[in-house]
Amino acid sequence: MMAMTAFSASAPGKIILFGEHAVVYGQPAIAVPVDIVRARAVISAAPAAPAGQVRLIAPDIRLDALLEDLPADHPLALAILLTANHLGVQRLPALQVHLSSTIPLAAGFGSSAATAIAIIRAVSAFLGHVLSDEAVSGLAYQVEQRQHGNPSGIDNTVVAFEQPIYFVRGQPFEPLKPAKPFTLVIGDSGVQSSTAAAVADVRRLHQADPQATGQAFAAIGEISHQARAFIRAGQIEYLGELMNRNQSLLKELTVSSPELDALVEAALASGAQGAKLSGGGRGGNMIALVSPPAATAVERALKAAGAVRTWITTIAPAVAPMEG
Ligand code: PMV
Repeated sequence: MMAMTAFSASAPGKIILFGEHAVVYGQPAIAVPVDIVRARAVISAAPAAPAGQVRLIAPDIRLDALLEDLPADHPLALAILLTANHLGVQRLPALQVHLSSTIPLAAGFGSSAATAIAIIRAVSAFLGHVLSDEAVSGLAYQVEQRQHGNPSGIDNTVVAFEQPIYFVRGQPFEPLKPAKPFTLVIGDSGVQSSTAAAVADVRRLHQADPQATGQAFAAIGEISHQARAFIRAGQIEYLGELMNRNQSLLKELTVSSPELDALVEAALASGAQGAKLSGGGRGGNMIALVSPPAATAVERALKAAGAVRTWITTIAPAVAPMEG
């Protein structure tokens, strides 16, 4: 049944609006999928290959390798093996996994979660199963755990369920429906940065000064809490100030960077209502809240201040991308 058939699945990028890092310590955070960038996996049978041989091709990261030659904790290998294991498949048929993605790597867009989820969905479909979003999210969490050490689970959840979420670690997520759409400009600092390293540094900071960091985490949690109410009520005019406060607290936690600070300043100086880094920080993305007419001016200012790429996206009950 599966011979010669290709199965394809894709998953979106994501941005964290509020609460990154604090979410690792049990505080709430808000994340939304970003559909303008996606990862895609295509699985096809490889009838000419020896039984059980799995070939992984990911041109974006210059990978063309057999599964058996990859380290056991390689994230792409893990996504395949955990899915097969979950479905009780002992031995995979000979197949080829082709991966492509428009999600910038190590930029705070959740590319690792999106890649894992595209693979999990495509492999399970290839093996004749449709997994629930919950199961897909759970498997992707296991992959993230091997990569990030201590992920909160927000990335795999928002990417698997593809809807805005209010998320507290270890609890079922809450879907978040904005009463009014709002527009964000996303700027990529172009600096690739390891989320695992930033999370580990925040942990060291927390161990060194539990009181100060604990207060920062709690203040960030309170910001996410207030933002949820404003988003639900359509009081978008209050979100900018919350973003600015969240950014100051992230700076205190040492996860901003000169490049991100420059982009945040440029966004505010060109008419954004608020701006902050998004994701693990130290590099990667920042986001700016804008009125739609101001979006292109903010984009231009971000580029002039060093952004290597920018996107405009509208967050709505059904996320509606506007522009690439
Ligand atoms: O860098 P990203 O996009 O993977 O986001 C990480 C978010 C953190 O809160 C820093 C870590 C986590 O596991 O929640």
